[in-house]
Amino acid sequence: MKEHILFYGKGGVGTSTLISNVSAALTEAGFRIMQVGCGPVSDSCSTLHGGLPVPSISDLLRGDGRISPDNAVQRGFKGIATVEFGAPDNQPGLSTSEGLRRIFDAIEQERIFESVPADYVLHDISGESSFAAYYEILNGLGATRIFIVTSADYMSLSAANSIFESLERFGDARTPIPFGGLIPNGVSSSFEDSFFADFAHNTSTRVLGRVPRSLMVRQCELYGKTVIEASPLSNQSYFYRRLANQIVDVAQSTVAGRQPSAMSPERIREWAHEWADRLYALENGLVSDGAAI
Ligand SMILES: Nc1ncnc2c1ncn2[C@@H]1O[C@H](COP(=O)(O)OP(=O)(O)OP(=O)(O)O)[C@@H](O)[C@H]1O
Ligand SMILES: [Mg+2]
Repeated sequence: MKEHILFYGKGGVGTSTLISNVSAALTEAGFRIMQVGCGPVSDSCSTLHGGLPVPSISDLLRGDGRISPDNAVQRGFKGIATVEFGAPDNQPGLSTSEGLRRIFDAIEQERIFESVPADYVLHDISGESSFAAYYEILNGLGATRIFIVTSADYMSLSAANSIFESLERFGDARTPIPFGGLIPNGVSSSFEDSFFADFAHNTSTRVLGRVPRSLMVRQCELYGKTVIEASPLSNQSYFYRRLANQIVDVAQSTVAGRQPSAMSPERIREWAHEWADRLYALENGLVSDGAAI
């Protein structure tokens, strides 16, 4: 059965790059994958297409107003099926969620997701404000897990905390999509590993995988490729493959994910202060007992 998995990351944390490498790694491992770029910029799947743009659903709807599996689904690296939503028409009086609803209605009507045999459909949701709109629609598809991609900065973790808050609210109304885990991206020190682990501890979540910061990611992006395609034997590729395995393990697990518990606005500020003090102590050589590092 097709499983819909949601990935959310605050703008610019590297969500699309990470998902494209996971799609490539899962395809290599024999899974049939569809990747859906839910953001307005239509660049989620570009490294699966040699860095070239592909027509989005919004472009097609604006053209002759019709989409079909033939024009809406593109084939990228090793035949990965890709779909880009693009920016819905900014018609006066049409809210973001109404614009999205129109895209989804067209997708449902033409049975785009059903038209392609796939084991996993990976949805790349970018931007905090639209998360609620996507969540609502994707929950209707029976999405199985949600993962949050984050870098080691306060703003990304604070955005993750806001998503946990909305998941608590959604929990009242309907069955929440189980949370799969936090995926640290661009990790460059063990200090950052401790930072993520402590955030997970404070929000009753868990850290899954870990993608180091690497110049190779930038280099492959310049070649218009994923790291898996351009440098399959590199260490970085093995990090993506390990993460892809973990995602499949979580998605196939019958154990329901635990509902995250968001920190209150006061508590997350207090938590950030504690880490600022630790960082200061570390910078100044004041850490003597190695606590939490
Ligand atoms: N692990 C990494 N190491 C180094 N650079 C990275 C890493 N992951 C992503 N990047 C780089 O970060 C930049 C942003 O990546 P990407 O476009 O995937 O982010 P995004 O979160 O999808 O952004 P948006 O919010 O615009 O959708 C790119 O130049 C990409 O090559
Ligand atoms: Mg992106």
